[in-house]
Amino acid sequence: MPVTIILGGQWGDEAKGKITDALAAQAQVVIRPNGSNNAGHTVVTDQGVFKFHLVPSGILYPHCTCVIGAGVAVSPPDLLREIEALQARNLPLGRLVLSDRAHVVMPYHPLLDRYEEERLGPARIGTTHRGNGPAFTDKVARRGIRIADLLEGAEHELRAKLAAILPEKNLLLTHLYGAAGLDLDPILEQALEWGERLAPYVVAAEELVQDAVHAGKQVLVEAAQGCMLDLDYGTYPYVTSSSPTAAGACQGAGIAPTQVDRVIGVFKAYTTRVGSGPFPTEVDAATSQLLRERGQEFGTTTGRPRRTGWFDAVAARYAVRLNGITEIALTKLDVLDALAEIPVCIAYQVDGRDLASPPARQDLLSRVQPVYDVLEGWQTDTSGVTSFEELPRAARRYIERLEELTGAPVTMVGIGPARRQLLWRTAAAFA
Ligand code: IMP
Repeated sequence: MPVTIILGGQWGDEAKGKITDALAAQAQVVIRPNGSNNAGHTVVTDQGVFKFHLVPSGILYPHCTCVIGAGVAVSPPDLLREIEALQARNLPLGRLVLSDRAHVVMPYHPLLDRYEEERLGPARIGTTHRGNGPAFTDKVARRGIRIADLLEGAEHELRAKLAAILPEKNLLLTHLYGAAGLDLDPILEQALEWGERLAPYVVAAEELVQDAVHAGKQVLVEAAQGCMLDLDYGTYPYVTSSSPTAAGACQGAGIAPTQVDRVIGVFKAYTTRVGSGPFPTEVDAATSQLLRERGQEFGTTTGRPRRTGWFDAVAARYAVRLNGITEIALTKLDVLDALAEIPVCIAYQVDGRDLASPPARQDLLSRVQPVYDVLEGWQTDTSGVTSFEELPRAARRYIERLEELTGAPVTMVGIGPARRQLLWRTAAAFA
């Protein structure tokens, strides 16, 4: 710290919530910089299991200010529901603030998301149907509605914006998708009601964030999704519609790259992905079932079973370099406890050629042959281990091999969902 970015190094769902939760104990400000309610972070504490979609995981610490940054597309009903659910659990919650520049997932966005996926059929992206893509499309097309547009005094402007936007949405809804069109007045009324209820949380978040950085406060930026779902560098078009990278986190949080001290890449000890798209290290059905059951690999947001595969060091090294990852938090190591042998992908081959990093062409990526280094398993239950040094020798060798292959040190190891099941690697353990 003072400014630390936590990001997913794979295809999302790397258990970032657990790492943010651990570091938020020392942070004063925790920022969610990107994505929408497509994301899901799970945190397990003594008080139970908490699932967050929009609210930063730091909310469980009363000393944390939690910021939903300008780079997020916010679904007001989902955010309000999340706030109410947290309030109902009677916990001393941190302070929540919402950027007035954040975009709004409007009622037409989830409809367009779902209808477009249905229209694409087998060529679909496999989105979360939360309206994420259409909301970010409108943002980039400069016809988005932002949180500031919902607030008191903005009604006239908002009506004019909706009057300009709705004809295009209705044309798509009725002509392309054969669905019913939408009326302006109920949407306007709904949006103003959301604005009224969210108003107490709305601030110029970038000002608050910069004040915190300049005051030397501990600031944690908790990116959603993962590098391989990045709009530019991920497995396009099977990606999300915002930038889950370190650069995207800076942009969405209102922090300059020169203000960042530490970038923690969170990687699972194996790999998962949800939705469609190439996945070079995907395993067969039997192994997949084993990993999925041991790792509880079902989406936090959609409940969909996740696709599973071996650790892909080619993609991981790519993520380490692109994001300037200074250290790795390796999660869910315990899921591999039962295996006698653990393959790790060390290279991609296609048409007799070696590829040093994931290619831009998805047809090539879907044809690559992963080259595996098969490492010895440890076949020991690690879930009760209390220090890095106590890990079985083969587990430590596995971690060291991942460090060699990715080029970044592993400083934290997750061995289960509970807060105590996180091993911090001390300087001595590096020897
Ligand atoms: P969208 O973000 O809902 O548009 O979905 C685009 C792609 O990103 C799909 O493959 C989703 O499964 C994936 N995706 C979106 N959010 C997450 C996440 O939080 N974890 C993992 N995958 C995600």
